[in-house]
Amino acid sequence: MAGYTVRLITTHDVAGHQVWIQRATLRDLPPVAWLQRRCFPDGQAYGLVTLLVLYFWPGVEILVARVGERLAGCVVGDVQRSQGRVLNLCVAPEFRRQGIGSALLGAVEQVLAAEQYTLMVEDKNLGAQELYRRSGYLPVSELRHYYGRNRHGILMQKRQNDRMSW
Ligand SMILES: CC(C)(COP(=O)(O)OP(=O)(O)OC[C@H]1O[C@@H](n2cnc3c(N)ncnc32)[C@H](O)[C@@H]1OP(=O)(O)O)[C@@H](O)C(=O)NCCC(=O)NCCS
Repeated sequence: MAGYTVRLITTHDVAGHQVWIQRATLRDLPPVAWLQRRCFPDGQAYGLVTLLVLYFWPGVEILVARVGERLAGCVVGDVQRSQGRVLNLCVAPEFRRQGIGSALLGAVEQVLAAEQYTLMVEDKNLGAQELYRRSGYLPVSELRHYYGRNRHGILMQKRQNDRMSW
């Protein structure tokens, strides 16, 4: 990875490939914006300007997962007064169902080091809900029409100790 200042968070072995999870660099942001467009419907994908603002915002962490030189996924989270939020998580379609989303979620929790985490997921997004449930998140409330007309949000929460009892 010539030219990169690599700050390693963790590595995972997924289906025989090593996945590197690192803090995003500035030069990662255009490919992350492209990945967002591939993963989310219009209006839900973070554009380059949003990513730039988040990159410099205090308390925000943007992590990327790489397989070789390829960008496989990203996660965005923030922490304030020990309360962590997972703002965005996505994995490129060709890398899904190999544990990368779960690894990114675990890595962002590790760097945020919060006592409690929350996230919002669309009610129809059952795959993501299952990932979060498996990682120890529990649904706590529903926000009607959060994502638009008849697209409700489910607020999920995890406390550090919840994982042990799951
Ligand atoms: C949701 C997303 C991040 C999952 O990434 P991933 O790398 O495929 O997730 P993982 O491989 O770690 O999945 C872990 C578990 O979650 C569950 N899961 C994940 N995706 C699923 C799906 N599409 N359908 C059913 N279960 C799913 C499964 O239990 C899976 O374990 P398994 O593969 O052994 O059955 C990815 O599908 C994605 O980017 N989707 C579009 C963007 C999005 O919806 N982001 C979440 C917004 S809240």
